[in-house]
Amino acid sequence: MVKPRGGSTKRTRAFEPGYRLDSDLTVVEHLGGSRKVDVYLCRSKRLKRLVACKTLGRSYWTDFSALEAVMREGQILRRLNHPNVVKAFRVELQDNPRIVMEHLTGQTLGTTFFEGNYAAFEVGDVVNLVGQLADALSYVHGQGLLHLDVKPSNVMYDDGRATLFDFSVAEEYSPAHPLRDSSGTAEYMAPEQTHRRHVGYATDVFGLGVLFYRLLTGGVLPYPLAAAGRNGTERRPRRRLDYSHAPRPPSEINPAVSAAVASVAMRAIEPDIQRRYDNPSDFKLALVESQRSAGILR
Ligand SMILES: Nc1ncnc2c1ncn2[C@@H]1O[C@H](COP(=O)(O)OP(=O)(O)OP(=O)(O)O)[C@@H](O)[C@H]1O
Ligand SMILES: [Mg+2]
Repeated sequence: MVKPRGGSTKRTRAFEPGYRLDSDLTVVEHLGGSRKVDVYLCRSKRLKRLVACKTLGRSYWTDFSALEAVMREGQILRRLNHPNVVKAFRVELQDNPRIVMEHLTGQTLGTTFFEGNYAAFEVGDVVNLVGQLADALSYVHGQGLLHLDVKPSNVMYDDGRATLFDFSVAEEYSPAHPLRDSSGTAEYMAPEQTHRRHVGYATDVFGLGVLFYRLLTGGVLPYPLAAAGRNGTERRPRRRLDYSHAPRPPSEINPAVSAAVASVAMRAIEPDIQRRYDNPSDFKLALVESQRSAGILR
């Protein structure tokens, strides 16, 4: 983790309800966030509705790299418009940058996971949800971007609708260019992202594949996490997946999963990019086909 320039490493307290973020936005509640960013539920006077606002924590207001990251995410979100991708209404790039977005109701899949409520999803629901995320990723890729951080806490689920958000790690995709940085989440990272080489559309398929596998199996991680050493500036050792471990097919762990659905999940998490689905559309096609063969779709 890079130490912030000009800011403290401590997380500052979130603003209280009623705090005016600017002349338009009043904080209703703190929705979440990480060390550097806070996301608030706000009332927008101008839009006459509730919105979510992502902004930097107070101690990062003068941290150039953190400012740049929120600005970059805002600029990316402004380009996107898809039913399964969070919508940005407004992006303020002046002073303390803010991304004003649609307020996604429901729960993140991360919350579902942390509460251990894996059984909340039937196999059919999982296939439907993951299919929506494949559509979202196909669209994102069509806009020239990779998400690179597909994981449960970046997906909101409400009443059958899955929405992908958190584009803080997203990058413009260009085969000739190396990755901007090594951000991402170890448990969901394909080997090519871990090793920062030749990422592509299939890299997002891997993250979605791990998410799919975990939803099918009640939370089992297909590859175990292993320590990967640390470089001189890091306080904690890095961890990465041990790709040499052969995952069990999800149908062996959960008998409700058909062999056809299990083989789609297994191909999505292939460590060898050549053997993985090339892109989320191919993954989705195989998913639909696996349902058809199981007699669920006609
Ligand atoms: N548009 C939204 N509507 C509702 N809640 C949101 C929205 N965007 C973010 N959140 C909430 O804020 C949390 C943090 O947002 P986000 O994932 O974008 O930031 P982050 O810095 O990556 O945090 P994390 O490390 O927890 O993923 C989310 O897990 C979610 O609970
Ligand atoms: Mg996130």
